Amino acid sequence: MFTDFRYPLSSPVRRIRLLTAHGSLLTACRLITAHGLLLTLSGCAGVQSSLDPAGPQADHIARIWWLMLFILSAIFVIVMALLALATWRRRTSADNETELILKPEAGGESRMSTLVTTGVVITVFVLFILLISSFLTGRSLHSLAASNSPPLTIDITGQQWWWQVKYENDMPSQMVTTANEIHIPVGRVVQFKLKSNDVIHSFWVPNLHGKTDLVPGHVAATWIRADRPGTYRGQCAEFCGHQHAHMAFTVVAESEEEFKNWYDAQLLAAAQPANTQLARGQQVFMTSTCIMCHRIQGTDAGGAVGPDLTHVASRQTIAAGTLANTRDNLAHWILDSQAIKPGNRMPPNPLSAEDLSALLNYLQSLK
Ligand code: CUA
Repeated sequence: MFTDFRYPLSSPVRRIRLLTAHGSLLTACRLITAHGLLLTLSGCAGVQSSLDPAGPQADHIARIWWLMLFILSAIFVIVMALLALATWRRRTSADNETELILKPEAGGESRMSTLVTTGVVITVFVLFILLISSFLTGRSLHSLAASNSPPLTIDITGQQWWWQVKYENDMPSQMVTTANEIHIPVGRVVQFKLKSNDVIHSFWVPNLHGKTDLVPGHVAATWIRADRPGTYRGQCAEFCGHQHAHMAFTVVAESEEEFKNWYDAQLLAAAQPANTQLARGQQVFMTSTCIMCHRIQGTDAGGAVGPDLTHVASRQTIAAGTLANTRDNLAHWILDSQAIKPGNRMPPNPLSAEDLSALLNYLQSLK
């Protein structure tokens, strides 16, 4: 029986896998081509695209991208046209070629040196335009760091293979810890302090900014500002091991009010079990291996190896953007996360159906 929990029944990936598993290769190829085309076209806009900027940083990067594309395309077209012209002229003059070699055209050499000089001057000029625009873009990208308003500071720790997110505050009781989902208020400068505990990762939200590496033993900083609300997908952009491709995160840019509501809710300790079913779920959590790695604020669970689960039910995805946060996915993840994301640190948890159901009820109550 073919099972793949990572993708919903309707997902193209799952359909392609099912088809290839059942021998319909031709249909699978057609599907791959169709979805490939769709993906290529959709790459120009959406939740993860450098060409759909949602803030000033990404805007500067998109501008220089378009400028380079325009200049380089023009150069390509001109060079190809000159090449075609030269080929055509050489063909028409092929008959009297021997004559030309024996008796060179008068003034041919000086015309050639003028052509070469013009070519060099144009090349240097174009390179200067690119150099200056690159310099100006770099300077604009750093201008947010110099803005006067005190930024919201968020500490990001890259781990194999998920993101720990901590909102800085002078008062420890006002600090929020979460994972893989970053909420920011629209219009406010946000400073990210980036570090890593294991290998080099790279923090990248294409709609908001370029990449910044997270290097072990060093704190890097980057500043962003989202100018329009939205959900933007980010991902690790530096190969960091087996599950590098499954190290994504989400940035939710929302109004000040929505952000404050979210923040206040995240500050609260986990909801206490409201009935015996939930209490049973909490007991399963506390008496199994979960407690070794995860933290649930307001309980004895204080592990820091895996993501903080105090408000896990409020997040859109689990496993660093790998799965939608649904009951089914959560069940498969808890039972055997190695089948979904091989090599991650979470061991299989062979729970009885009853225990699993109670645990799921409890985790889904942690809004
Ligand atoms: Cu972390 Cu790639």
